[in-house]
This record gives sequence, structure tokens and C-alpha cells, in this order.
Amino acid sequence: MNGVPAIELCGVEKSFRAAPVLRGVDLAIGRGETFTILGGSGTGKSVCLKHMIGLLRPDAGQVFVEGREIGELSEDELTDVRIQVSMVFQSAALFDSLTVFENVAYPLREHCDWEELQIGARVAECLDAVGLAGTEGLMPSELSGGMRKRVGVARGIALEPRTILYDEPTTGLDPANQRRIGELIQSLKQRLGVTSVIVTHELELCFAISDRVGLIKDGRIVAVGSAVEMRNSDHPDVRAFLAGEHDVQGARSGAGARE
Ligand SMILES: Nc1ncnc2c1ncn2[C@@H]1O[C@H](COP(=O)(O)OP(=O)(O)OP(=O)(O)O)[C@@H](O)[C@H]1O
Ligand SMILES: [Mg+2]
Repeated sequence: MNGVPAIELCGVEKSFRAAPVLRGVDLAIGRGETFTILGGSGTGKSVCLKHMIGLLRPDAGQVFVEGREIGELSEDELTDVRIQVSMVFQSAALFDSLTVFENVAYPLREHCDWEELQIGARVAECLDAVGLAGTEGLMPSELSGGMRKRVGVARGIALEPRTILYDEPTTGLDPANQRRIGELIQSLKQRLGVTSVIVTHELELCFAISDRVGLIKDGRIVAVGSAVEMRNSDHPDVRAFLAGEHDVQGARSGAGARE
């Protein structure tokens, strides 16, 4: 990896009510890299992402964003970090009382001193990028789960941050929209050199767009490699995960779990 990593976790430990979730996570993600974190449900993937943007603080260990340690920063100081790094939440986390327009415009109003016209143009561009052009006036309650998810992605890219953390960005989307989000992540990398950290259970997406993939298990990253290396890995945890996840995905689509 050349230069300072975009994101680095060194020995990060985190427990909730004395139950350890992260037991020493070590991970360095390069600038412009697309990195996917795989792992079973409840293994701490979302907890890992939340550390990368300072929403959770480690009990032990350090988190660096572009070389700056963020574990001890005040909420005010974290504002800078949240201009550099944005997060697309697993639950979309939209403001239910705000229109789609205001949801996507929110980070722009928080962090930019833009004219209304410029905000409108940027919101339209972001909605178009996720296939939701013209939905500005809708309320979140009028959207399907998949549409809410895509509004969350539009909000995440609005500020053109240097790093975007995507927590299950395509779960529940139909194949065409899954592909669209995958292409969006790739085009942000190619056009702007954006670093992407993705948590997903969609192995096809993972292997199609990731430069590297890491597997989390028992509170640690137990294997890291390129998509090809991981797919062909003989690491027992990787093999077990890929075999198990394949079964789970089959069961999921069989049960009609998609929205
Ligand atoms: N704020 C919190 N307070 C208490 N426990 C938490 C909190 N956040 C996460 N946990 C616990 O940490 C563990 C890991 O949660 P996390 O959400 O990171 O899992 P995950 O790997 O993202 O799973 P999934 O694939 O189901 O989204 C879980 O046992 C969860 O209950
Ligand atoms: Mg999660």
C-alpha cells in the first residue's frame, strides 16, 4: 500500500455490556481502494464501520482516518472527519419528517455554504445516480424499502467524500438496482478516487467490485486477500464462510426475502 492508509484500525477492541464484539481488529485500507468486509451476522461488521467514522469509540486500540487518530476527538472535531468520510447505514436512517430532497440535501446544508440552486442540482444528480430521479418531493413513508436504501446512498455520496462506508448497500434491492449501486461505487473510484468500505452478504457484488476482501470472525479479521485469492482460498474460515453464505443466500432468495 502506498502512503498513508485512508482508514486504519490497530488492535481495536469493543465490548457491549461486558460482551466482547471486537477483540483486536487490525485493518488498513488504502486510498482509492474498494474493500469489502465479510462475516456472519452479529460478528461486528457494522460496529467496525461505526468506529471508522467515530460513531463508536474503541475500548482499546486506535482508529486512524488519513493518518489522524480519531478515537479521542471531540464531537466538534469529528465534524471534519464526517466531511471526509460518510456512511450509508444498514437501515437507511432517513429523517422520516423530511422529504427525499431534504434528506439528500442534509449534509450539504450542514457542511457547505451553497446557493439553493446549487444544492438542488447536486441533489438531482445524486438521485439520478441511484435511479431515483424526480423523487425529490416524496416522503420516506411513501418509499419502498429498496428506494429508502437508495436515498441513503444518494445522501452518502452528496458531499463527494473521500471515503464512503456502505453497510449492506444492496440488501433488498432488485438485480438491476444492485448492479446500479455496484457501478456507482466503481465510478466514484474511477472518477474521484473515492475509497469504499463495504459490508455485504452479496458475494457476487463483493467479488465483482472489491480490490480486497477481509473476513471477520470471533472479533478479528482472520483473512484478507484479493477477490480471486479469497474465492480460491484454502483458509478453513474462508471456505466455511463462503460455503455457508452460499447456502444462506439460496435460502434467502427461496424464501422471497427480497423487497
Ligand atoms: N450500540 C450497541 N449496544 C449494544 N450492543 C451492540 C451495539 N451495537 C452492536 N451491538 C452488538 O454487537 C454485536 C455485533 O453487532 P453488529 O451490528 O456489528 O453485527 P453485524 O456483523 O453488522 O451483523 P449483521 O450482518 O446482522 O448486520 C451484536 O451482538 C450486537 O448486538
Ligand atoms: Mg450489520
